[in-house]
Amino acid sequence: MNDDAPDVGDMDPEVFRREAHRIADWIADYLTRPERYPVLARVQPGEISSALPPHAPLYGEPFDVIFADFERVLMPGITHWNHPGFFAYFAITASGPGILAEFLTAALNVQAMLWRTSPTATELEEVALGWLRQLLGLPGEFEGVIYDTASISTVHALAAARERYAPHVRERGLAGRTDLTRMRVYCSDQTNLSVDKGIILLGLGHESLRKIPTDPEFRMRLDALASAVAEDRAAGWLPIAVVATVGTTSSTSVDPVMQIADLCRRESLWLHVDAAYAGVAAMVPGYEWILHGAEHADSIVVNPHKWLFTPFDLSALYCRRMDLVRAAFALTPEYLKTSDAASVRNLMDTGVQLGRRFRALKLWMVLRHFGATGLRDRLGEHMRLARLFAGWVDAAADFERLAPVPFSVVCFRALPTASVDRPADDGHGADTAAAMPGAEIDAFNERLLDAINRTGEVFISHTRLDGRYALRLAIGNLHTKEAHVARAWTLLQHHAAQLRQTT
Ligand SMILES: Cc1ncc(COP(=O)(O)O)c(C=O)c1O
Repeated sequence: MNDDAPDVGDMDPEVFRREAHRIADWIADYLTRPERYPVLARVQPGEISSALPPHAPLYGEPFDVIFADFERVLMPGITHWNHPGFFAYFAITASGPGILAEFLTAALNVQAMLWRTSPTATELEEVALGWLRQLLGLPGEFEGVIYDTASISTVHALAAARERYAPHVRERGLAGRTDLTRMRVYCSDQTNLSVDKGIILLGLGHESLRKIPTDPEFRMRLDALASAVAEDRAAGWLPIAVVATVGTTSSTSVDPVMQIADLCRRESLWLHVDAAYAGVAAMVPGYEWILHGAEHADSIVVNPHKWLFTPFDLSALYCRRMDLVRAAFALTPEYLKTSDAASVRNLMDTGVQLGRRFRALKLWMVLRHFGATGLRDRLGEHMRLARLFAGWVDAAADFERLAPVPFSVVCFRALPTASVDRPADDGHGADTAAAMPGAEIDAFNERLLDAINRTGEVFISHTRLDGRYALRLAIGNLHTKEAHVARAWTLLQHHAAQLRQTT
């Protein structure tokens, strides 16, 4: 053996063992008290990149030196999604079992494109998605597949819908087809942007997506949907699909899925249900109703990475017509042919991507570690905390709620002056009695949001509802306890009071 030969192997196994233990300790400490960091990163744009060398090192560096830079240079630029004061967007959790699964997934490094490239990855995906499907109360006709995000799940669902109504697109495309009418897809004006992007990606054209107005509780209006479909047919469009949402991104409203499913059946339209955030709540006793009607859907997306304590990323698409997804995308070149193809499921066939991560392991470990009861209890507690917070908002004369709270998100705003003549709560927030222009109330809340996010104790995001700037408190993190929600409320009241004095 030549001692001068360059080292062309992996990290020394003993160094790996030592560093793995160190990182396990670091993660355990981090998760024990994530609030030692400000929840929202305090760095300026460019600060992290400029602290790093412009070139990769010529020679390898010891891992402890690299890890020291991780802590010193990179950690300040981390926004802490694990922080119990993280209430922005949809708060999520990288739970212990999920993190451990990710460690194992990285170590195994299997690529589950074919059954044979890791039978366990393929079969565990089927098992874990079967368990989840049962917990959600969906029938066995739905075949499940895991993608990275709901955006990608929805693209595949809409691709299957397009395949159903516009066959041969994979061979002939859409351009210049005299045999195809322009297609129309419907969703509410509260639908997540992932549907818009899916439509754009599939070449249907953004104009093909018709946004249906919503009722005062932000649910798709069935009458408006029916009229839109009739009007489009009369005008020569080909309606192909409706996307209903269970838990919209802004206010978490639930579209009337059962009635939409009836309409889709009558009109022969594909029904895709976007339950990315709230779908998991269907496993909580008393919340089964949220997916009523979804059993008639053609496809449904649920994101365990949002509110099922599964580290990002993992989105589950359930589809009755996975054959159409395969018809749209399956393609097997010689170098991927296998003799077992007739008897196994090759996951590369159910989608665009060839390479696939072994994501099922983390879902399986999360489902087993918490169990159905543990998951239900945790989801139920988040909803209790949201109702508690909503109650504080409702009881305060100088705040008002802007939407119902079906799950774990509260949309509200502060009033620059206390409302003197506040109407009784209608579950939808009261109108500001103070005769103040909406723009001023919006500006006040924008300043309030900035002020409380600067504290480093909480991170809240915003949306716009009925044209009004709304603060949005989302609970979904396993570290968040009642004390953290109470602290958020104290901070909001305190900073709103301070702003009132200065404006
Ligand atoms: C209702 C809904 N659907 C889809 C998405 C997109 O999710 P993803 O980031 O997994 O693509 C979101 C994101 O918040 C959402 O709220």
